[in-house]
Amino acid sequence: MKTLFNTDELRRIFGKYLATHHQQDADTGSLGFAGIHYAFLRVLKPMRALAVGSAKGFIPAVMGKALADNGVGALDFVDAGYKEGVDANAWSGQGFWRDKPDDWFEGLPVRTFVMTFEEFCAEAKSAIWGYAYIDSDHSREGTSRHMTLAWNRLPAGAILSLHDTDAASGHPSTQGPHAAVKEFLEAVPSASAVALSAFPGLTLIQKQGA
Ligand SMILES: C[S@@+](CC[C@H](N)C(=O)[O-])C[C@H]1O[C@@H](n2cnc3c(N)ncnc32)[C@H](O)[C@@H]1O
Repeated sequence: MKTLFNTDELRRIFGKYLATHHQQDADTGSLGFAGIHYAFLRVLKPMRALAVGSAKGFIPAVMGKALADNGVGALDFVDAGYKEGVDANAWSGQGFWRDKPDDWFEGLPVRTFVMTFEEFCAEAKSAIWGYAYIDSDHSREGTSRHMTLAWNRLPAGAILSLHDTDAASGHPSTQGPHAAVKEFLEAVPSASAVALSAFPGLTLIQKQGA
């Protein structure tokens, strides 16, 4: 066995959900950053997890697979459905979620909400998440806003993860998240964080006890 996944399932996920910029490698079966989300979800076993923003669902699908393999838990996947060239905060979104195919995450415990994260939080007032992932509005202000919205709904021990947090490449999508995470960690020194510098960066922040 070369991977923890069934090889057919791995091929299906790579073929359907469009993996980009996650240090993944379909040829060798490496999930890259998605494997990190998978591992944390298998250990933390949250009843509810969150993913905000995705091109065609690669990270939400792998997160959903982790919850399915746990046998408990569901993922709230939220994306505004913005389209590059049309909407100001698309950040390479292609408007895919606006015309989302029915049951795109068929067989996985993933609930899709095509709305802004701000709207979702206003509606889902009682939602709390044991693991959260943000890859949405990549401006500094937008990332900070989404970090705060998610962080306030995490219990102690939960993890907030963010994509595109390594600014070293100079890539425009990384500048805002990098600055927002830096500010956040200065303001919340009790949080413990790991910042992977592999392009385009992934940061994991664990909330400590109250
Ligand atoms: C496509 S992802 C960025 C690409 C991603 N790094 C990848 O690896 O594929 C960005 C997504 O964030 C979404 N987005 C932007 N602002 C948002 C908001 N306020 N709430 C929810 N989703 C948002 C966009 O609709 C877009 O689909």
